[in-house]
Amino acid sequence: MTDELPQRLAVVGGGRMGAAIAQVFAAAGTTVTVFDPSAESRDAVPARVAAACRLLGIDASAVVGRVGTADGVAAACAGAELVIEAGPENLAVKREIFAELDAVNPPGVTLATNTSAIPIGRIAAGLTHPQRVLGTHFWNPPYLIPLVEVVRAAGTGEAAVDATLRALAAAGLMPVPVDADVPGFVGNRLQHALKREAIALVAAGVCSAETVDTVCRYGFGRRLPFLGPLEQADLGGLDLTLAIHEVLMPDLDATRSPQPLLVELVGRGDLGARTGRGFRSWRPGEAERRLAEVNAMVLQQGRLEGQLGGLAGQSGGLDERPGGLEGRPPGLDGRQGGLEGRQGGLDGRLGGFDGRLGGFDGRLGGG
Ligand SMILES: NC(=O)c1ccc[n+]([C@@H]2O[C@H](COP(=O)([O-])OP(=O)(O)OC[C@H]3O[C@@H](n4cnc5c(N)ncnc54)[C@H](O)[C@@H]3O)[C@@H](O)[C@H]2O)c1
Repeated sequence: MTDELPQRLAVVGGGRMGAAIAQVFAAAGTTVTVFDPSAESRDAVPARVAAACRLLGIDASAVVGRVGTADGVAAACAGAELVIEAGPENLAVKREIFAELDAVNPPGVTLATNTSAIPIGRIAAGLTHPQRVLGTHFWNPPYLIPLVEVVRAAGTGEAAVDATLRALAAAGLMPVPVDADVPGFVGNRLQHALKREAIALVAAGVCSAETVDTVCRYGFGRRLPFLGPLEQADLGGLDLTLAIHEVLMPDLDATRSPQPLLVELVGRGDLGARTGRGFRSWRPGEAERRLAEVNAMVLQQGRLEGQLGGLAGQSGGLDERPGGLEGRPPGLDGRQGGLEGRQGGLDGRLGGFDGRLGGFDGRLGGG
């Protein structure tokens, strides 16, 4: 693999994530072949790719034209410089897939898994060439959320990590190296630490679920797309952070198992939007509307960052790496959709669902 965008990519597992990963690379110019054992999944790939293009406001025909499907792993991998696996989240299935990938691909081809949680070393165990196996943890959907955690297992070689970081950056993504194979990598550890405390606060009667979400969205969350927690701590002063932690840390939830409230909700079949009730109530159609609103907001935020010249890269880390934020093409954070974003009033411009502009997120979709 070179520093450039891969000419050919194989995606193994063409469901929600596989099709979306194919779309991102194809939009950047890579020829992608998707393998999926299910004819239904394979047949759905072009429509999924086209739908992503429509959302991004880009012409779908050329992108769809660069995405083919195959009904065998070897055929999908022929000539591929990089293989990304996005099959089911099941260790036995992934190990079977990787045994075949290891056998059919020359040793120089990097084999990446999009597992959400399975340690990479368990997937690579017993392979002939474990040095070319690593994790590429994309976020859903990758055409809107640019981060990819590139996870190194104990046996992963430097060359595979470097090549993958470069390939992902060349495709307009935001890769970050994760140097140890820990469950949840970085992003899910942070996200679920927040959810543990959020559920604990509701369970303890401190506030409602709606209030938790409002506090996150309109409080510290307002800056999160532009300012990470550690840079924010530096800006505020570490002495202040320490003073807060001395009071707070003994009191924060430290439950080492799923929160009892979460277990209780799932146990009684309250699974969230899918069943009409979770932490809040959901009317039919409300989840789809809400997701569309959120996707539109995320798209606008990406465009805004692109227009502001790579705001998220100011902290330095990625800028120094090949293909980092500053090195990527203009408008990268609005990646495939241009630079129409304007600063300010994002929520309001997208339909008045900012709580201060005529709606309230707890009553979305008719409230
Ligand atoms: N959905 C998310 O938000 C998300 C985010 C990040 C990572 N992931 C991870 O990405 C992977 C795929 O998730 P998804 O949401 O796309 O699931 P999905 O169910 O939409 O897609 C999985 C696909 O794998 C196919 N498949 C089944 N057996 C296979 C095999 N032996 N070889 C190849 N493909 C096979 C299925 O037919 C299906 O099309 C999982 O490991 C998941 O944990 C998901």
